[in-house]
Amino acid sequence: MNAPRKRTVILISGRGSNMAALIDAAADPAFPTEIVGVISDQPNALGLGIAASRGVATKVIARADHASKDAHDVAIDAALATFGAEIVALAGYMRLLTTDFVEKWQGRMINIHPALLPSFKGLDTHSRALDAGIRVHGCTVHFVTPAMDDGPIIAQAAVPVLIDDDEPTLSARVLKAEHRLYPLALKLFAEGKVRMDGNRTAFSGFAETTSNDTVAAPSPAREEVDLEQLARITP
Ligand code: GRF
Repeated sequence: MNAPRKRTVILISGRGSNMAALIDAAADPAFPTEIVGVISDQPNALGLGIAASRGVATKVIARADHASKDAHDVAIDAALATFGAEIVALAGYMRLLTTDFVEKWQGRMINIHPALLPSFKGLDTHSRALDAGIRVHGCTVHFVTPAMDDGPIIAQAAVPVLIDDDEPTLSARVLKAEHRLYPLALKLFAEGKVRMDGNRTAFSGFAETTSNDTVAAPSPAREEVDLEQLARITP
């Protein structure tokens, strides 16, 4: 018999395209998590409608309705309990969570960041990547710790920065990679193949061939890259 699917709640603030990628992946009964709810801090988040249209329960918990940041996160924690959440996936949740909240969920909460961490923490990653002139950019799924975009890395996908890229073209290429990477990372986590171990991610249950995969910088002339090949699991 298969292990029960892990109950996962997604936190969003806006568009929700990564949320949709996770919901779509979890629509396969063989996927090891079930998306049981979506919480948004923004009442008008586009993702709320997308989640509802896919039959996922949604809840708005707005900062303005709470006296303090602490009270806001306590309300989110209470909603997670109501959903019976075992895993929390941040997907474009644009608010820093309190240390109390993060510590409570540490090791069970993951985030996707649109850059190859530890480079380009914070906002405007694509413009900063273009300004820096880097030729390889990408995205990272990591465990959430109190310091922003700083937790142990679970998986990364790289994309080329093309010579004539601007912010829209580069962010679109990275976003495509995000939509592949996040379900892959959530699956590994839910299957117990990755876990947070201090300030590192511990990997187990990988076949020898997977653990020996290496990342190759894609040719800068190629628009499409093989993300399966590029998604790197780093034991
Ligand atoms: C994504 O680029 C994600 O990496 C970042 O915020 C953006 C959210 O986009 N944390 P969406 O709401 O998932 O479409």
